[in-house]
Amino acid sequence: MKTVLITGASTGIGKATAIYFAEKGWNVVATMRNINSLDLCNYPNIIKLKLYVNDNKSISDAINSSIETFGKVDVIINNAGYAAAGAFECASQEQIKKQFDVNVFGLMNVTRAILPHFRKNNSGTIINLASVAGHAGFPTFTLYNSTKFAVEGFSEALQYELRQFNIKVKIVEPGPIKTDFYDRSMDKIENPEITEYDSFINPAMKKMTEMGMKGLPPKSVAKTIYKAAISNSNKLRYPVAFQAAAMIKLRHIMPGCLFRSVVRIIMK
Ligand SMILES: NC(=O)c1ccc[n+]([C@@H]2O[C@H](COP(=O)([O-])OP(=O)(O)OC[C@H]3O[C@@H](n4cnc5c(N)ncnc54)[C@H](OP(=O)(O)O)[C@@H]3O)[C@@H](O)[C@H]2O)c1
Repeated sequence: MKTVLITGASTGIGKATAIYFAEKGWNVVATMRNINSLDLCNYPNIIKLKLYVNDNKSISDAINSSIETFGKVDVIINNAGYAAAGAFECASQEQIKKQFDVNVFGLMNVTRAILPHFRKNNSGTIINLASVAGHAGFPTFTLYNSTKFAVEGFSEALQYELRQFNIKVKIVEPGPIKTDFYDRSMDKIENPEITEYDSFINPAMKKMTEMGMKGLPPKSVAKTIYKAAISNSNKLRYPVAFQAAAMIKLRHIMPGCLFRSVVRIIMK
């Protein structure tokens, strides 16, 4: 039986993925910041462990405990992440740093911690959650976009050096998905002393939230992640369903100024 470790499994995509893999018969290590936040007792093959992506001790404790319980880890899913959204000029230094700490450095911390185990086994799969926002910039998302572009570049470069150890890297790229991402988890960038962006940012934020609320269910991402996890190929990128695939394709084939005009019209 194979074992998957997932970060940020308390809600949304992480939780749906934990349940999906458990239903497929995998051992699942659902890691989260607060292990009391989720009841998964219907699934005997899921264990919950505490993991903060910016606390290296909590990462190594969770990995060691997973190996002790299940013998080995086969797949790691770097899912924990959130968006800071608003006008860049209004963001504090702390907001900028935290966005990168969680979405980029946290993902790198978990990746670095699992690599000795994967190298020893001469196998393993790392699945990183990026986004359509890792291909195209969107209004209000300067910070979030930068982190997801970073995840794309990191993952693409990493797969070269891990191929010799039979370790696969996969990037899963969702479009809008209906989760806590657009409300509870969102870090709203606001500065009451700078109001000049309000007429642009407020409608764009509203539009972004509306698109999220009309988004696909998190199970659609879980299915794509599962497909990536069981693949024997070296395919790197897995857009989630037609919507994300079409957006990414358009971003790369349309002239940039035309694509940006379309985004401006949609976000008005
Ligand atoms: N929803 C979308 O439209 C969408 C689109 C593209 C990509 N994504 C990506 O998908 C991933 C999951 O997002 P989601 O939509 O499922 O949102 P979500 O429901 O808000 O879930 C985010 C998860 O990340 C966890 N998390 C946040 N900061 C953390 C930290 N420092 N350490 C450990 N865990 C942390 C949260 O934990 P708590 O419960 O403790 O807060 C939560 O479990 C993210 O990487 C996001 O960027 C989402």
